Amino acid sequence: MPLSRPLLPDYDVIIIGAGAAGLMCALTAGQRGRKVLILDHANKIGKKILISGGGRCNFTNLYAEPANYLSENRHFCISALRRYTQWDFQALVNKYGIAWHEKTLGQLFCDNRSGDIVNMLVAECRDADVTIRLKTQLEKIKPVTNGETCRYRITSSLGEFTCQSLVIATGGLSFPTMGATGLGYDIGRQFGHQLVARRPGLVPFTLPAAWLRRFGELAGVSAEVVVSCGHQSFREKLLFTHRGVSGPAILQISSYWQEGETVSINWLPGVEIESWLRTLQLERPKAETRTVLSEYLTRRLALALCENGNLRRLTDKGHKPINQYTDAELKALADSLENWALTPSGTEGYKKAEVTLGGVSTDEVSSKTLESQRQPGLFFVGEVLDVTGHLGGFNFQWAWASGHCAGQYV
Ligand code: FDA
Repeated sequence: MPLSRPLLPDYDVIIIGAGAAGLMCALTAGQRGRKVLILDHANKIGKKILISGGGRCNFTNLYAEPANYLSENRHFCISALRRYTQWDFQALVNKYGIAWHEKTLGQLFCDNRSGDIVNMLVAECRDADVTIRLKTQLEKIKPVTNGETCRYRITSSLGEFTCQSLVIATGGLSFPTMGATGLGYDIGRQFGHQLVARRPGLVPFTLPAAWLRRFGELAGVSAEVVVSCGHQSFREKLLFTHRGVSGPAILQISSYWQEGETVSINWLPGVEIESWLRTLQLERPKAETRTVLSEYLTRRLALALCENGNLRRLTDKGHKPINQYTDAELKALADSLENWALTPSGTEGYKKAEVTLGGVSTDEVSSKTLESQRQPGLFFVGEVLDVTGHLGGFNFQWAWASGHCAGQYV
């Protein structure tokens, strides 16, 4: 005979996932007097928060707005982002006296360590009487309808719990070593929700072996570039790696890139390249191409660009003096430096991706309450939904905002 599970206390709200969105949802609901339980299979609370931002958690962005998010429904995030803003989260951080600084482009980082943010969220949860149970395996979720009311029975390695509102805050698939699983998607499917195809986002590109033979030795070299794919462009740093390219510019554009597409790189952002070259023809006619390029790029990068691809012949491996270019050659040089084509062979995948694009479709989820429109009492918050932010604190801002808004309705 199978052993029956102990029946544990009833809760108003059970949240699956003690990450950014789950904790924020829990403390908001707890502050409203709801009896809240968080279940997580991990051995620590907020593991991704702890490793985020290189250990300093880029917890929000001063310029967060809907345009910083990808989704099949670009309007879905508007309501939550308006109702819980970057200023709200900043105020919470300030209330705890956590020291922070703006690093660049509105990105707010802890001065000390990411653990300050986790401790703050845990303290808020404790004050709101939230119970958190770690190392708990979820086995089954069953809605139990009794007349008009529906409750959820959750079977777990701890026993059976019941609740009125069930919140799915299980995040995405990236960094499986930090406890990421597809459970939230399975639960979405169980209740008839559509899933938007998932793929790694904010992820380094890998490049073909032939490319690595030519540029692999630049691993560690970086340059500020404008990188574009389709209609999207980012001006940030590109970093050469042993397997391809990374750095903020590449991570950003990776979320817009589809397999097989080419991305375009402008190596001299902010420079009117053709007119700069024409001025050089008059002012420093004998200067070699590689010398003048080294004024903007590191010498190793300038040489590698001149020695490879179509620039090899055009620049005579970088030795061609600037006054020896014909009009058409000068235009071609400017064009190559401005629209340098790069065709990645792939990405480093979920093991190195910061986020998962796609997820539970927002089509049948309320943008106001984050509640399922198919299944009363079921909520989705954070990265499990088809809402993905740019690099720079936007993903946490979505987790805080969606968690907070759901916390007001669970
Ligand atoms: P999150 O992943 O935080 O939490 C999900 C929780 O669910 C986890 O605790 C997990 O253990 C639990 N869970 C999963 N499956 C389960 C199961 N089967 N059973 C029980 N529990 C389960 N963003 C940003 O804005 N600024 C930054 O600095 C960074 N830095 C960064 C670095 C790295 C290395 C990564 C991988 C990601 C970032 N991010 C980031 C992205 C950010 O971490 C991410 O978008 C949020 O943590 C998403 O919050 P969620 O609460 O939705 O998921």
